[in-house]
Amino acid sequence: MKSNPVIAINHLYKSFGKLEVLKDFNLKLFEGENLVLMGKSGSGKSVMIKCLVGLMEADKGDIKVLGKDISKLKQNELDELRTKIGFLFQGSALYDSMTVRQNLEFPLRRHSHNTEKKTEELVKEALANVGLPDTIDLMPAELSGGMQRRIALARALILKPKIIIYDEPTTGLDPITAKEIILLMMNIQKKYATSSLIITHDVDCARVISNRMILLLEGKDYAEGNFKDLATSKDPKIKAFFK
Ligand SMILES: Nc1ncnc2c1ncn2[C@@H]1O[C@H](COP(=O)(O)OP(=O)(O)OP(=O)(O)O)[C@@H](O)[C@H]1O
Ligand SMILES: [Mg+2]
Repeated sequence: MKSNPVIAINHLYKSFGKLEVLKDFNLKLFEGENLVLMGKSGSGKSVMIKCLVGLMEADKGDIKVLGKDISKLKQNELDELRTKIGFLFQGSALYDSMTVRQNLEFPLRRHSHNTEKKTEELVKEALANVGLPDTIDLMPAELSGGMQRRIALARALILKPKIIIYDEPTTGLDPITAKEIILLMMNIQKKYATSSLIITHDVDCARVISNRMILLLEGKDYAEGNFKDLATSKDPKIKAFFK
């Protein structure tokens, strides 16, 4: 599995005034793996993601995504790189005033030039992947929370990204629906061989989905290992994550 990393973050620092959020944070995501990142609320997970995709400038450190140094890219190169990264934001973030079809077409129209027929095909394929082929003409408000999350997942995957970043994919869902979403994430990863970075507080989710985990604590990659290594750690700071 330890091929070339698709993401390599080295010695990342980011402060806001006196608040040092990240101080020497390191992370590598290898091809085809599911890496879970856990960290308390406010520990800097979102800040790290924003630096990673070039939405925020790091104070120090280097970030390579698919071999490209983020800080050296021009805006159009950054846009191009972002099409290779799928995002599943917390709480789905579907466009409320658009149908499911329009939500899924949105990234396609923005980033690629497909014929109408090809667009329709890709939308249908994406809906089939998440098991919701009959929702195409519904509005988000007509869907349950779990269905909305599935549609958001379909949208995140529609450009067939090499990397997918999930921010709290199971938060707010009941345990059964959460499990369904996790299974879906695993199936999609198998089918498209994507590399996934999964941010979660959900210990069950981490156990099922992770090949490897990193704990973000005190601004650093405080601990790294597989679920079992970390869950059986004697370090009280690590143990606190698994309560
Ligand atoms: N643009 C900003 N300006 C000032 N401070 C910020 C900014 N963005 C984030 N912060 C601060 O950085 C810290 C880390 O925030 P971040 O959003 O990364 O936390 P998080 O780990 O994603 O938390 P959660 O699990 O709640 O999403 C917080 O103290 C936050 O207030
Ligand atoms: Mg966050």
